[in-house]
Amino acid sequence: MNSRASALVTGASRGIGAAVAAALAPTHDVLLGGRDEQALRAVAADLPGARAWPVELTDLAAVAAAAAEIERLDVLVHSAGVADIAPLADTSAEVWRRTLEVNVVAVAELTRLLLPALRAARGHVVLINSGAGLRANAGWGAYAASKFALRAFGDVLRAEEAGNGVRVTSVHPGRTATDMQRGVRADEGGAYEPEKYLRPESVSAAVLTAITAPADADITEIVIRPSAG
Ligand SMILES: NC(=O)c1ccc[n+]([C@@H]2O[C@H](COP(=O)([O-])OP(=O)(O)OC[C@H]3O[C@@H](n4cnc5c(N)ncnc54)[C@H](OP(=O)(O)O)[C@@H]3O)[C@@H](O)[C@H]2O)c1
Repeated sequence: MNSRASALVTGASRGIGAAVAAALAPTHDVLLGGRDEQALRAVAADLPGARAWPVELTDLAAVAAAAAEIERLDVLVHSAGVADIAPLADTSAEVWRRTLEVNVVAVAELTRLLLPALRAARGHVVLINSGAGLRANAGWGAYAASKFALRAFGDVLRAEEAGNGVRVTSVHPGRTATDMQRGVRADEGGAYEPEKYLRPESVSAAVLTAITAPADADITEIVIRPSAG
C-alpha cells in the first residue's frame, strides 16, 4: 500500500507551480499539470514520485478524462494562470474570455471533478491568487477581475466543503520572479528586475505552511509581498 500522500499541481512546468511541486515532492506523489509534456517530464526527472499530467485546462473534455483517473487526492494546488496587462480601453473580449477561462472556469471545473477524491482524503485545495485579487489597479482589469472571482470561488468552496473535511487556502503573492512577471513587465513597458521580486520558492514555502498546519488551524488566506520592493 502506498503510504505517501498525493498531490496535483497545475502550472507545474515552471514558475510558482514548479516550486510548489518541488516543495511537495519529499512527502507527496505529485502529478505535474501543464501543457508542455517535455517540460513536465524534465521537472518530474528531478522529483521522486512525480509524473507529468499534461492537460490543456481550457479543453474541458480533456480535463474530465484526466481527472477521472484520480480517485483520492490529498492536495490540489491551482497555480496555472495567465496575465495580460492593458488598459480596459485596449482589452478585447478575447482577452477577457481567455483570462477568465484559464484563471477561473478551469479552476472551478477541475475542482468540481476532483471533489469526490478530495473528500475521500479530507484534502486541501490551494488557490494561487495574487495581490490583484485583493486590490484592482489601473491596467489590471481582466486579470484582477479573474483573481477577485477566484477569491470568491475559494471562499464559497471553503464554506461548502468544511463539513466534508476539505480545507481551502487562497495565497496572494506580490510580484514573483517567473516567466509571467517577465511578460507583465513587458506589457507595462518596464524592466524585469527579478532581484526585487519574490522567489517562487518563497511562495511555495507559504503553500507548505498552509498544507502542514495542524488540524485545529485552518489557514484560509496568505498574503506575501516582496520585502525588497
Ligand atoms: N509571477 C507573478 O508575479 C505572480 C504574482 C502573483 C500571482 N501569480 C499567480 O501565480 C500563478 C503561477 O504564475 P507563474 O508566475 O508561475 O506563471 P508562469 O511562470 O507563466 O507559469 C504558468 C503556468 O500555467 C500553465 N498554464 C497556463 N495556461 C494553461 C492552460 N491553458 N492549460 C494548462 N496549463 C496552463 C503553464 O503551462 P505551460 O508550460 O503549458 O504553458 C505554466 O505551467 C498564476 O495563477 C499567477 O496568476 C503570479
